[in-house]
Amino acid sequence: MNSAHGKSAGLSRLRALVPAALLALVLAAGCAEPVPAPLPQVQAVHASEGALHAPHAVVSSANEISSRVGAEVLRDGGNAVDAAIAVGFALAVTHPAAGNIGGGGFMIIRTPDGESTAMDFREKAPLAAHPEMFLDEEGEYSADIRHRSHVSVGVPGTVAGFELAHERYGTGDWARLVEPAVELARDGFPVMPGLARSLAGVLSSMEPYPASIDAFSKDGEPYEEGDVWVQPDLAASLERIRDQGRDGFYQGETARLLVDEMERGDGLITLEDLERYEAVEREPIQGTFRGLEVVSMPPPSSGGTALVQMLNILEGYDLAGMGHGSAAHLHHLAEAMRIAYRDRATHLADSDFWDVPVERLTSKEYAEELRAEIDPEAAGVSSVDDVEVTAEAEQTTHYSVIDADGMAVSVTYTLEQSYGSRITVPGGGFLLNNEMGDFNARLGLTTEGGLIGTEPNLARPEQRMLSSMTPTIVARDGELFAVVGTPGGRTIINTVLQVVVNLGAFDMDPEAAVAAPRIHHQWLPDRISLERALEGEALVTALEALGHEVTFRGGQGTVHSAFIDASNGERIGVADPRGSDAAAAGY
Ligand code: GLY
Repeated sequence: MNSAHGKSAGLSRLRALVPAALLALVLAAGCAEPVPAPLPQVQAVHASEGALHAPHAVVSSANEISSRVGAEVLRDGGNAVDAAIAVGFALAVTHPAAGNIGGGGFMIIRTPDGESTAMDFREKAPLAAHPEMFLDEEGEYSADIRHRSHVSVGVPGTVAGFELAHERYGTGDWARLVEPAVELARDGFPVMPGLARSLAGVLSSMEPYPASIDAFSKDGEPYEEGDVWVQPDLAASLERIRDQGRDGFYQGETARLLVDEMERGDGLITLEDLERYEAVEREPIQGTFRGLEVVSMPPPSSGGTALVQMLNILEGYDLAGMGHGSAAHLHHLAEAMRIAYRDRATHLADSDFWDVPVERLTSKEYAEELRAEIDPEAAGVSSVDDVEVTAEAEQTTHYSVIDADGMAVSVTYTLEQSYGSRITVPGGGFLLNNEMGDFNARLGLTTEGGLIGTEPNLARPEQRMLSSMTPTIVARDGELFAVVGTPGGRTIINTVLQVVVNLGAFDMDPEAAVAAPRIHHQWLPDRISLERALEGEALVTALEALGHEVTFRGGQGTVHSAFIDASNGERIGVADPRGSDAAAAGY
């Protein structure tokens, strides 16, 4: 896509700064310069309070301070990509469980003229990686090496990804976009209730890493709600990014500190790995579902491919006629999930290294074949002779942006597990991911516990590990409609699926589509998990009668999303009520 599409027109910048009525007067009078007017106030609505309706632009994220940072960038004339970058850096300070500069992720961008593109800033395996790197000295697979060690750290991608997005589609001054995060880290911010709980919960697992205890506690005591949390080392790292762009992270002081920590802990990342890291712009996955046009993330994420595959399968059924939340509805969802997760485990990996049959997997013809596998009266069987899957961490974060021109950005990024490897770079103040754990454990190693041993997603030098992240943008009749995505490990794809189905098949309004209870099936283990809101004897009995094993769980995902009301152009920000510090902000 031509980078010029990303640039906001001068008129839109004017619109962002001047109320509509005054702008009309100014233009009608033929004045060359707008009359200075007070900037509109940024409003925020917490996740527990419902949706935010804003006339111009909106941001929805896991943390109110970060949503406000993005809304201020928009209000001050930045476009949606600028705001997404500012929010991403701010979340690295305010939402450290998943917001990051030491991890990676994906961004889908839709321009006001309806073109879409995908930014891939997924972590890469270091040059020294190899398929047997998760084996211990006895040659046995070690979950600790794969997920809890310096070896589990992938080469971070976030800073390179944000810089690439900014170069191609941003309009604002880079330093202005990083500065709010610098200030939050340097001057501190009040700890919100969800963050206080989260920091208290993670502290014991940080004990092996003194720099993490230093950065994330008050001398070993958890921060409490309302404490002002200052992160001077992180502020210094962000200042280097503010002043030098990607070079302030992948070279110089920050790179040296990161590599020193790798050497201290026998990790694999070298200065060469950091210098070689490049984010990539890719063609997004495109699909349709009952009048909706869906754009999502291609490999190395499995998200967009599996999402479109499931939507294609489900399009063949009258879900609305079955009734939302009925056994029939959940059965058909679960059967589509079973099939798509089987194909995901078999075929999906980094397409720069492996031939992934995306076209076939996302075709309507293939979906028709797959529907023949689904018995409306009985659950399928996930064979243990086929591919098995690994239980996957559910910590990541998603945010959504729509600007005044109708440009939309959907970002999901992560450290893999909550707080990643728990390893903080001493002197750098930021956490390192443990994303190498998203590679398969070892060729041929499949277990009842759910390890997967297929070849495509094995660790190889510079390969990107398979992801489930599904940042997605939905249009209706060619017009921007919804920006969605979620954290949740392997549940991510199913969570996004259900929100899109709620919009397209059940015609739900945005708040209801996000709030509705969700389910998850991932081929193996062969069972459906239901959010507790669905607990009820009749439904469970009906699903069991169809042959499903049923389990229950707490909230599945947090879809911090944004929408446009086609009737009046209003922006609607929905912070998922499952997210404790989450908020939508806009103006
Ligand atoms: N680490 C979670 C994902 O990439 O899906």
